[in-house]
Amino acid sequence: MTQPQLTIALSKGRIFRETLPLLAAADIVPLDDPESSRKLIMDTNRPEVKLLIVRASDVPTYTQHGGADLGVVGKDVLMEHGGEDLYELLDLNIARCKLMVAGDPQMDLAPRRRLRIATKYVNCAREYFANRSQQVEIIKLYGSMELAPLVGLADAIVDVVDTGNTLRANGLEPLLHMADISSRLVVNKASMKTKHTLVKRLVEQIATRTGNS
Ligand code: ATP
Ligand code: PRP
Repeated sequence: MTQPQLTIALSKGRIFRETLPLLAAADIVPLDDPESSRKLIMDTNRPEVKLLIVRASDVPTYTQHGGADLGVVGKDVLMEHGGEDLYELLDLNIARCKLMVAGDPQMDLAPRRRLRIATKYVNCAREYFANRSQQVEIIKLYGSMELAPLVGLADAIVDVVDTGNTLRANGLEPLLHMADISSRLVVNKASMKTKHTLVKRLVEQIATRTGNS
C-alpha cells in the first residue's frame, strides 16, 4: 500500500531558515534551497513529504483549503487571517517578535483621540482599538509601514517589531504592545483526520526540539 503524502506550506526567508532544524528533528531534509531554486514544490529526503513555498500571508489560505496539509506561519498572520478550518498544533518558538503600535514618541494615543493607523494587519488593528474603545481609520498597506507617519499618511502604525532597529532608523518608537508573536505549526482539519498517524508522529518529533514535549 502506498503511503499518503504529507505537504507542508511555508515561506522562504526567515521562516524557512528557522524551520529547517525542526524538520531535521523529524528526519525531513529538503533537497533544494528556495533561495536558489524557483521550484514551488520541493522534494525532501522522505518521498512522502513535500514542502510548498508560498508567501507568508498565504500559508493559512493554502492550509485551510487543503492545498497543504500543514503550514508554518507567524501568529500575527494567523490572527489576521482568523484561522478558520485550522488547528494550531505547536508553538514552534521561532521568528519571535512583538505586534506593536508604533509611531512618533510624542504622539498622543489617548483613547479619546481618533487615530489614522497604517498597517497590513487591518483586522488585528481594528480589534485592538475597538477593545480600547478608540475610534480609528485604518489605512491598508502591504509594506514599508514605517514611512506612513513620516509623510503624514498616518498618525501611527501597527507592525511587528523585533530589535526595534527599523523603527529607530526612522525616528519612531514602539508605543503599545499588542501581542507576543512566534510561528505556529497549523493543520487543515480534514488532514488531521485522514492523515492522523503521519501528523501525530511529525508533531511528536518536532516537539522534542521546541520545548513542547
Ligand atoms: P509577506 O511576504 O506575505 O508579506 P513577510 O514579508 O512579512 O510576508 P517574513 O518577513 O518572512 O514575511 O515574516 C514571516 C513571519 O516572521 C512574520 O509573519 C512574523 O511572524 C515574523 N517576523 C517578521 N519580521 C520579523 C522580525 N524582524 N524578527 C522576527 N520575526 C519576524
Ligand atoms: C519586519 C517588520 C519590520 C522589521 C522589524 O520587516 O515589517 O519592518 O521586520 O524588525 P526590527 O525591529 O528587528 O527592525 P522584514 O524585515 O520582515 O521585512 P519585510 O518588510 O519584507 O517584511
